[in-house]
Amino acid sequence: MSAAHSVITIDGPAASGKSSIARLVAQRLGRTYVNTGNMYRAMTWAVLQAGVDPQDADAVRAAAADIVIESPVIEGKTQVCVSGRPLTDAELNSDPVNRAVSFIARVAEVRDRLVADQRALATIGPLVMEGRDIGSVVFPDSPHKIYVDATEEVRASRRGAQGLSDQIAERDRIDKQRKNSPLVIPRGAIVIDNSHITLDQAVDQVIATLQLT
Ligand code: DC
Repeated sequence: MSAAHSVITIDGPAASGKSSIARLVAQRLGRTYVNTGNMYRAMTWAVLQAGVDPQDADAVRAAAADIVIESPVIEGKTQVCVSGRPLTDAELNSDPVNRAVSFIARVAEVRDRLVADQRALATIGPLVMEGRDIGSVVFPDSPHKIYVDATEEVRASRRGAQGLSDQIAERDRIDKQRKNSPLVIPRGAIVIDNSHITLDQAVDQVIATLQLT
């Protein structure tokens, strides 16, 4: 699948720092920033609102068919909306959503829909898109692929410092082991170890390693 505009793909495990890096890389390069985790989180929020058990894949599939997710671009980044209502960061990152999102994200029909939406975003302009399968599945032909990693210890302490409780080890286990589009280092990706460098250093490294023309 080739994008209408170029897409820098940034993948990595939970709390690796990829969102902060992707947002700043997009700002520096004047590209639109797309956080695909927020699309899965919005779907999860809506499934929970519908009172559906996140581990019941059939019920999730049925509920998801009626959920409308949109990602309009506002001030250089996508803002996820459910039925036209923008979700707040607190809603997207709530404990119930953290606990349920990996179950929702392993349902093939949910992924198919959101992947189609993600590909469609490349028609609006050059992007920096971050997630778990962006370089491996959504835009496998992109020549600009990054994988951000960090030790589990560093990732857990970063989440704690943000005041968020998040079962990152458990989410990673499900995200890496799922049948549909598991988290992998995409073929051709440059790996950045973000354990012991500053955010600015990570952004510099990403921009230096991408041979943008
Ligand atoms: O990036 P994040 O931690 O906010 O993502 C939340 C969850 O969404 C993550 O645990 C797995 C899922 N996800 C996914 O399956 N594929 C993506 N491209 C992005 C996120």
